[in-house]
Amino acid sequence: MILEEIMKRRSGRAFSDKPVSDEMLESILEAGRWAPSCGNTQAWNFVVLREPDILTQAHDALSRGNAYAKAAPIMILLAAKEDGGCPAHGLPYFAMDVGLAVENMLLQTVHLGLLGHPTAGWNEAKLKELSGMREEYRIVTVIFIGFEGDLNILDERSREKEKAPRTRRELSEIVHWNSW
Ligand SMILES: Cc1cc2nc3c(=O)[nH]c(=O)nc-3n(C[C@H](O)[C@H](O)[C@H](O)COP(=O)(O)O)c2cc1C
Repeated sequence: MILEEIMKRRSGRAFSDKPVSDEMLESILEAGRWAPSCGNTQAWNFVVLREPDILTQAHDALSRGNAYAKAAPIMILLAAKEDGGCPAHGLPYFAMDVGLAVENMLLQTVHLGLLGHPTAGWNEAKLKELSGMREEYRIVTVIFIGFEGDLNILDERSREKEKAPRTRRELSEIVHWNSW
């Protein structure tokens, strides 16, 4: 009953350096563009890094735990202006717009037989400087995209995480029927 891509998507770590075609990449970006957004503000911006020199510099901004991502041939910075979303409820809807675009992109990634991994472990200032991003923008997440490679390229800790089953809270814990 649930879309196959939703169930197959996982934040894998074993990337191969096999190149991703322009057509695949464009379809992932296009999938992001068609996400819903608050008042159709479409707060999202996608900064695609795939030149080897730029990627190498961007790798310096990654947290140690995200070192596995250096093997991915594509890194996308998802950024939005902090006040660029819908002003409703005083909530940061710019981040929700970006989140919805990210999930569309990740599902399209799965559809194409690729791995996509969203992250928060990086130095924002370094990535902003490297990409020439203006001050008023925030990087909400960075996603890594590529074909899946050999698990043996991972360090032991990442390999263990990779083998662990995906888990979620039960519906009975999070769904409140008619009242909380
Ligand atoms: C906003 C956000 C930040 C994340 N940051 C990281 C990260 O820095 N490093 C990492 O390896 N995974 C990161 N993840 C991936 C999550 O750990 C992963 O989605 C979660 O454990 C559920 O696993 P699944 O995506 O395989 O279902 C992040 C995910 C999200 C949505």
